[in-house]
Amino acid sequence: MKMTFLLQCPATRKTGAALAAATMLFTVSVVPWAAAQSPQQQTQRIPADRALLEHGRYLVKTAGCNDCHTPGYAAAGGKVAEKLWLTGDTLGWSGPWGTTYPTNLRLFMHSHTEASWLKTARTFQPRPPMPWFNVHAMTDRDLRAIYHYTRSLGPAGKAAPDYLPPGQKPAGPVVTFPG
Ligand code: HEC
Repeated sequence: MKMTFLLQCPATRKTGAALAAATMLFTVSVVPWAAAQSPQQQTQRIPADRALLEHGRYLVKTAGCNDCHTPGYAAAGGKVAEKLWLTGDTLGWSGPWGTTYPTNLRLFMHSHTEASWLKTARTFQPRPPMPWFNVHAMTDRDLRAIYHYTRSLGPAGKAAPDYLPPGQKPAGPVVTFPG
């Protein structure tokens, strides 16, 4: 930024003192300008953030996340209070992979930064029936929306039961896949 200023004002290149003075002037003039920008930027960001949260809510509803990660959601025809959304489930999914339990995403997202979630979402391959391939195919905006929406609900609930390898009998109810 100093370079730009100096190139635009060749006269100040003459002496070291003039250069230092010009640099100081530049620095002084830039600070109040930057400070003046931030309140404006903040007010501009509010609607954008709301739109992102709304989009996240929409995706959690329509991309199937609630179906498995919210207790009783599919069986209740989606009529589960939003405060329980994505708190994980004790209904297991058994198949050749063993038994998996839908992760409590309210706790999961709170253990991630946005950057670590974006990286995870692009590469993770959890066991079935988690449709990780659908998550890999989402845009960055979709992934950010799911992350911020889930976090906006706050951490809640308990961790889902641990994964059981094939041959270990689950204690609670399970959906059984053939194979
Ligand atoms: C058909 C059921 C199902 C659907 C639909 C589903 N999940 Fe999952 N998800 C699971 C199960 C089961 C696990 C646990 C997998 C395991 O233990 O390996 C899981 C695990 C996860 C994990 C944790 C992965 C890890 O590395 O610990 C994340 C994050 C996740 N799901 C996000 C989502 C999102 C976001 C959606 C919606 C786009 C979604 N899931 C839709 C069943 C589902």
